[in-house]
Amino acid sequence: MRFKGKDIISINDMTKPEIIHILETAKKMEKRSSKKLMQGKILGTLFFEPSTRTRLSFESAAKRLGAQTVGFADPSVSSVKKGESLWDTIKVTEKYCDVIVMRHPHEGSARLAAEAASVPIINGGDGPNQHPTQTLLDLYTIKKCQGKLTGLKVAMSGDLKYGRTVHSLAAALSLFNCRVFFIAPPELQMPKHILDELDRRNIKYSLHPRIEDVITKVDVLYSTRIQKERFPNEKEYEKVKNIFILKQSMLRGVKKNLSIMHPLPRVNEIMKEVDDTPYAEYFEQAGNGIPVRMALLALVTGVIR
Ligand code: CP
Repeated sequence: MRFKGKDIISINDMTKPEIIHILETAKKMEKRSSKKLMQGKILGTLFFEPSTRTRLSFESAAKRLGAQTVGFADPSVSSVKKGESLWDTIKVTEKYCDVIVMRHPHEGSARLAAEAASVPIINGGDGPNQHPTQTLLDLYTIKKCQGKLTGLKVAMSGDLKYGRTVHSLAAALSLFNCRVFFIAPPELQMPKHILDELDRRNIKYSLHPRIEDVITKVDVLYSTRIQKERFPNEKEYEKVKNIFILKQSMLRGVKKNLSIMHPLPRVNEIMKEVDDTPYAEYFEQAGNGIPVRMALLALVTGVIR
């Protein structure tokens, strides 16, 4: 299995053995001191859209491996503001770093950046399309909480149309023969091309309008934010913005092993009172971004195999 020089653009580009290898490497990262593994290397962080977890955990992961970071968190302070193309931005920044993580509002931008770059590109989210490193940390979290990835019952709720994390996660879970439940209003349901792919892979799934319909059946409930920034207008967002709010009272009768996950940030999808239940895993999940992103950085730069 060769990771050196590999771009991480979509979870669909990865085989099941590759995913398992990344998760096993992440587990090792939690245990060992890796302070010097990436000494002398530089991570570029190009964030054309806001981020807290993805950018900071990549920076933290790089520093824990002994690397340094350069980059921007706001394109208005870069030469994009003067009209520089993404292609040219990548052609230049690749000269300054050994690996680049990029978040961009346009679907397909990460693939374009990978074509331009001679250093590995890691997709930190391209519009509503994919967020593969989030999926890897989601899988890592599920394995940690549930003890396995195979054969689980996983529900995803919220904005399944625009939420890139659930697109990547649905594809990944299909490799592990999970049963999936998609909870959303019809206008925010999972895109047809993803459902078609699940059909092709013979994965059992069903669509539901309410969390209450499935919450007592599942091992994992993966809640997501309604992606206000991707709606065509404010009126459409207003109609659905409060559609799912998970309250403690809704957890009566759930399975003991239920893990409630959320990629964060949350707005109002999960009430704060749920944080104090044994089911809440979302802050641990965010923390798992560190070992998983350490593993990815070390693998694609070739400092480990
Ligand atoms: N989960 C996630 O991608 O969070 P950020 O948008 O804060 O990076």
